[in-house]
Amino acid sequence: SAAEKGGYDYFMLKEIAEQPKAVADTLLGRIDAAGDLSLDEVRIPAAELREVDKIVIVACGTAFHAGMIAKYAIEHWTRIPCETELASEFRYRDPILGPRTLVVAISQSGETMDTLMALRHAREQGARVLAVCNTNGSTIPRESDAVLYTHAGPEVAVASTKAFLTQLVACYLVALYLGQVRGTKWGDEVRAVIRELSEIATQVERVLETMEPVRELARSLADQDTVLFLGRHVGYPVALEGALKLKELAYMHAEGFAAGELKHGPIALIEDGVPVVVVVPSPRGRSVLHDKIVSNIQEIRARGARTIVIAERGDAGVAPYADHLIEVPATPTLLQPLVTTVPLQVFACELATARGNEVDQPRNLAKSVTVE
Ligand code: G6P
Repeated sequence: SAAEKGGYDYFMLKEIAEQPKAVADTLLGRIDAAGDLSLDEVRIPAAELREVDKIVIVACGTAFHAGMIAKYAIEHWTRIPCETELASEFRYRDPILGPRTLVVAISQSGETMDTLMALRHAREQGARVLAVCNTNGSTIPRESDAVLYTHAGPEVAVASTKAFLTQLVACYLVALYLGQVRGTKWGDEVRAVIRELSEIATQVERVLETMEPVRELARSLADQDTVLFLGRHVGYPVALEGALKLKELAYMHAEGFAAGELKHGPIALIEDGVPVVVVVPSPRGRSVLHDKIVSNIQEIRARGARTIVIAERGDAGVAPYADHLIEVPATPTLLQPLVTTVPLQVFACELATARGNEVDQPRNLAKSVTVE
């Protein structure tokens, strides 16, 4: 009903708008004023967490993209080797696991069959399993050693939005908590991340306030067949997520690529007028990432691509190469997916509407895939 949708036309629009609150709720009470994390709910003894020598993240769909981003943060902050794998692949192979392996199973519903089977597979081999989940008492957290709940609230639209942002927040918290438990001495960089994470809801809110041009752009692209997405570093999973959203909702051919792979194939797809969405890392911090992607943008533009650039506000280095510029607030590099994903959700939702598709219930898809 209209009331359930809080005045929005679709649950997806409501859930996109709820993201600042979802993110704030997921942080609530978990970082104190001194920047220390309290995640007592993660009932894996500190002694065991200190012994962890490998982390494996398993998930499906959008949750898998959150897991891909988590890998960058976990390895950078904790120095614990981390891999992220599709649950459907992991469960049918012979992964190397043991009591010192921490498996993180990310799932909004807590009922996805492949993710559940992956965690059973892991536990049978003695690994500890931590669930990152949005649904209290669902099967995945019940069968895990511990759970960190995301507090996104119920997500109704099939395409995941607010659950994704809160999965990212939960993964950042897990990474920082592991570092804290293991006595890592944070430098200024991580201390700044903790501070900025505490305030990230405000940045997400700012993004939402500036989405009208993105909707206009989406409507102008309603007759396109293909949209490509490029990213580097944590912008790469964001590109994959942007493409997934467009497939799910707009039924368009959409593909995400790592910008560094352009010359290994994708650049052959560039022809006059192809829209390419590029997620640009901050020019501050790891500026090499930024400069590399600016040259990628020049390369595709020289071949006729119509560039849709998502960049940090005031990024003068990239602006001249953007046919359409979507600006997001400045954040530390590893947190940037929390702001760059939002325009991609709005973009896909608006394209779906413009193409006359059912936004909340896309054809052939289910909210929770409990069968194979
Ligand atoms: C389905 C949904 C996706 C979701 C995926 C994983 O495909 O349509 O939005 O990302 O399942 O779901 P989970 O509940 O495990 O996060």
